[in-house]
This record gives sequence, structure tokens and C-alpha cells, in this order.
Amino acid sequence: MIPSSCLTRLASAAGLVFVLLSSAPPAQARDPGSLPNVMILATGGTIAGTGASSTTTVGYTAAKVGVDALIEAVPELKKVANVKGEQVFQIASENMNDAYWLKLAKRVNTLLAQGDVDGIVITHGTDTIEETAYFLDLVVKSKKPVVIVGAMRPSTAISADGPINLYNAVILAGSEEAVGKGVLVCLNDQINAGREVTKTNTATLDTFRTPELGLLGYLQDNKAHFYRQSTRRNTADTEFDVSGLDSLPRVDIVYGYANMDPTALNAFVAAGAKGIVHAGVGDGSLADAVKPALIEARKKGVLIVRSSRVGNGIVARNGEAADDDLDFVVSDTLNPQKARILLMLALTRTTDSKAIQTMFYTY
Ligand code: DGL
Repeated sequence: MIPSSCLTRLASAAGLVFVLLSSAPPAQARDPGSLPNVMILATGGTIAGTGASSTTTVGYTAAKVGVDALIEAVPELKKVANVKGEQVFQIASENMNDAYWLKLAKRVNTLLAQGDVDGIVITHGTDTIEETAYFLDLVVKSKKPVVIVGAMRPSTAISADGPINLYNAVILAGSEEAVGKGVLVCLNDQINAGREVTKTNTATLDTFRTPELGLLGYLQDNKAHFYRQSTRRNTADTEFDVSGLDSLPRVDIVYGYANMDPTALNAFVAAGAKGIVHAGVGDGSLADAVKPALIEARKKGVLIVRSSRVGNGIVARNGEAADDDLDFVVSDTLNPQKARILLMLALTRTTDSKAIQTMFYTY
């Protein structure tokens, strides 16, 4: 893709004027003194969880408290935004699935197309926040802020983190600074990009991080402070549109480890997988024991993406496997669970492996 700066130089040289139009209307400029209109879409999770006692921080029940109660528990929200709540569904997020994702994405896009909605907060279980965040980063068709928030302690616990996380998320979703930054995840006073954020600890408040590439900024003193943003295309600038979809292609993840064999891979292919993400050891390495089965799956038309269980760094094309010869795709820096999401959406557009590889270098 020719960078816009080159287009501008070319255009001026040719005496033409290129007007680069965004694919979506800009977010509405607000009256300086008015509060932003922020929708809170609740989906469940620990932020809506309850425990047996105030000291119960594990072994509680997620997805019990409704959106109205979540909002009532933070009366300070009224000072920073005009908020409305909607319970889209109520689940522990380990139960997230394609149907919930499509329902949520369609609702988000419908609301963001309304002039009276300036931003959206989604309350969500933390177990799959990183997947929902990237899925929405690829399918939301607006530059308006979408902020996903959760909690690591249930609402009944001492020093529950849900209320302050929700307060910060609403400020972020109503901020001009968050416009055009892609889907954001905001917990523990930190702002991370939906594309890169991942859960790094099973229980601590600081679990959401972007190792190596880094967080985008902070929520501090009731304001959003940004210091960087993702360089990858997202939201209104992507080619993905779920408005007409009621299902997504099946893509499974094969986890790599010492002494593995192709049993799991073959089972996924037999179950109808249209794509396989191989979470290889190291730089996406393929064990000799599974390579023939991967080649056979590719011959059957299954798209193969080499990712890595390592979690950080670039999986290099033609590095640990002859991807050009094998017609495999590499995941670039996406971890396996995020590579799966991009491959699912890519397969709604094409089965051409070269086009899909370009998508992994674009989004
Ligand atoms: N069951 C987990 C979930 O709903 C609880 C984790 C959490 O929300 O913090 O993701």
C-alpha cells in the first residue's frame, strides 16, 4: 500500500488533488461544556461477580450482577458522562463464543452509528478480554472509542477493582484522545491496545500487559494520557464486515510441545476446521512428527498459520519452515489466540494464502 505521504507528493506533481476519505464518518465533535454520551454494554465476568465473603478473591461466581447495579455502584459516573446501560448477555467469559461475538459486534456497530453515542464501554470477563478486544478491533466500523473493561476481584471483595476500572473506562470512552485509537482495554489505570494486550497473571490486578511493545498510556487524575498508539489498521479502516454473518469459519489451535504427534491436528481437520493455527515452540518451529499432517491438511485446503507459544516477537516467514514451498502463512507478532481471530475473519473474505499473509502484515 502506498503511504499517503507518497500519494500526496505524486498528486501534487501531477497537479491532482487526492482527498483521502476515511471509510467512516468522523466522530461527532461535542460542545466543549457537554458531557459525552457513553453506552455501557455488560456481558458478565468478575466485574459482575459475587463472592461468599469480602475476602473471597478466588472461587467466586462471575456474571451475577446486572448492568444497572454496576452503574449504581459508581455514582461518580454521572460527573464524567451521560451513561446508559444495556445487558447484552451475562456470561463468564471462558464461555465466550462466535455467536456472542457476532451479537456484541452488531450491537456495537448499531449504537456507534447513532449520533447520540460518543463512545462505548464493554464490561467483560478477563479470561477472554484479549480475544474479544482484537475481534472488535477488526470488525467495529467506527473511529469512536470502544473500551473493554473487567476486574480481577469480584464486586463483593475488599478493594474490588471493578468500580474504579469502570469509572476510568467511561472517562476513556468519552475522551477525544481515544478517538481513532482502535479498541482499547483499560484496567489497573493502564490503557492497552486490543491488538497486543494479553492476560499475564491468573489473579493479580496488574495482569493485563503488552509485553515488549508496551502500553499506550494511563488513566490518571480523571484524564486519559496517551504516549503511543498501534501502527496497524483497525476498526473503520479494516476490510472485515460481520453485519451479514451469522457464523464464523472454524479455526482451531494446535499447541506445540516436546514429543507431540498429529492426533489433535488430525481431529481438528476431521471436525471441519477451515484453518489451523500452529502454536509452535520457539520461532514457530514444526516438529517432524506433525509436519506431514500439516502438509496433508494444506492439500485439503485447510489454511495453516504458523504462530508461536512464546508470545512475543515476530514469527519469520521461511524461517523455521519453508512457508513459500508449503504455502503456509506466518502470524507476524500475533499470539495464537489472536492469530486465530484474524484467520477466522480472513476466511470470511478469501482462501487465498497470499492475500491472507498480507492481512497478517496489515492488521
Ligand atoms: N470466569 C472468569 C471470566 O469471566 C473470571 C475472570 C474475570 O472476569 O476476572 O473471565
